[in-house]
Amino acid sequence: QVQAFIFDLDGVITDSAEHHYLAWKQLGQELHIPFDREFNEQLKGVSRMDSLERILALGNRQHDFTAEEKEALATKKNEHYKELIKGITEADILPGITELLADIRKHGLKVGLASASKNAFVVIDRLGVGEHFHYIVDAAKVAKGKPDPEIFLKAADALGVPYENCIGVEDAEAGIEAIKAAGMFAVGVGTPESMAKADYVVSGTSELRYNEIIARFQQTK
Ligand code: BG6
Ligand code: MG
Repeated sequence: QVQAFIFDLDGVITDSAEHHYLAWKQLGQELHIPFDREFNEQLKGVSRMDSLERILALGNRQHDFTAEEKEALATKKNEHYKELIKGITEADILPGITELLADIRKHGLKVGLASASKNAFVVIDRLGVGEHFHYIVDAAKVAKGKPDPEIFLKAADALGVPYENCIGVEDAEAGIEAIKAAGMFAVGVGTPESMAKADYVVSGTSELRYNEIIARFQQTK
């Protein structure tokens, strides 16, 4: 019996995964560490500092900076990111999401947000979708990032729903792993290759349909 949906934010509710990519790319250029979208798949869902470590490792420069310098680099990326999300409005909610949130509400299920982003509250506010969420996990209070299940477990606990009755929706490999490790049903938005571990995969958010997701969940029971 499905009781709750727990959503990722960046790349699921809005296209801010693209803004994260562009902001990291800009920092990568400044550090002379170029990378492409394929490498970026590994950064999705991953915390700011862990993402920086992965980019530095790619350029073999992980030992070139002190902890303070790394903090400054991460802050620089965040400044690029904040600039990019300045103009986000309701119009940037991805297709199908408003309808899905309305259907979930109509059926009386709980809705949580499990985003690794410390900018999540600002983005949700700019999108004007805050009222749809019963609980938003504060990324600053999560000790272990995705693929660890902690953030999804925290959301389910706050919603008061058993893990096996939750459906997680993600666009990141690390996110799908986190949902599965939490014992939840995983819906992946992306390519079948990148979403290989998901229980149900759609290629875009416009294909996220309430009835279809529930039917897929029930097939696994
Ligand atoms: C995740 C994104 O939602 O949040 C990652 O998928 C990002 O790309 C992470 O690095 C942390 O975000 P922020 O806004 O705290 O730097
Ligand atoms: Mg995401």
